Amino acid sequence: MQNNILDILERNPIIPVVSIHEESEIDKVYSALSAKGITCIEITLRTPYAWEAIAEFKKRYGKSMDVGVGTVISVQQINKCVDMGVAFMVSPGLTSTMVQNLEHSGIPFIPGVATPSEIIRGMEIGWRYFKFFPANLYGGIEALKSYGSVFYEVKFCPTGGINESNHQEYLSLDNVISVGGSWVIK
Ligand code: 3PG
Repeated sequence: MQNNILDILERNPIIPVVSIHEESEIDKVYSALSAKGITCIEITLRTPYAWEAIAEFKKRYGKSMDVGVGTVISVQQINKCVDMGVAFMVSPGLTSTMVQNLEHSGIPFIPGVATPSEIIRGMEIGWRYFKFFPANLYGGIEALKSYGSVFYEVKFCPTGGINESNHQEYLSLDNVISVGGSWVIK
């Protein structure tokens, strides 16, 4: 299901969301993550340098880290991720145009949801793993507890406002497999 995103989520309880602006940041980011024992990275498509950063990061460290792509919001971007053979894809949301392409990509992926209707829509497709975003603005821990009783088969990776002091509380919830965020690397 979802090209086995569960494997990525289970192996990586903390998913650093990182925006890379230039080549000189790559080694520093890798060292900082390694020092924390983190073996995955979600590189966002939020900078002009992003695709080059993904290619370069993968080339240098792809053997020791799961190099994934975040902020995937178009079919074109999904296709590029396939071409590059990235380890996983994360989207802040979901459109019907993206559904088939995500499923056929062969790459583990997790789409973003915030509301019950969005969760139901994803479940209708047959998906069970969602990024809950932006967690802090859509009810955080309390919302996840409510979703846990209603959508008992669904598991989440909350992101948005997760930080050093609250991430353990999120991770302690039964329906949270991993958490993501930019706090991991400043
Ligand atoms: C994401 O893409 O998951 C968010 O930008 C992360 O949110 P944060 O910056 O509040 O951690």
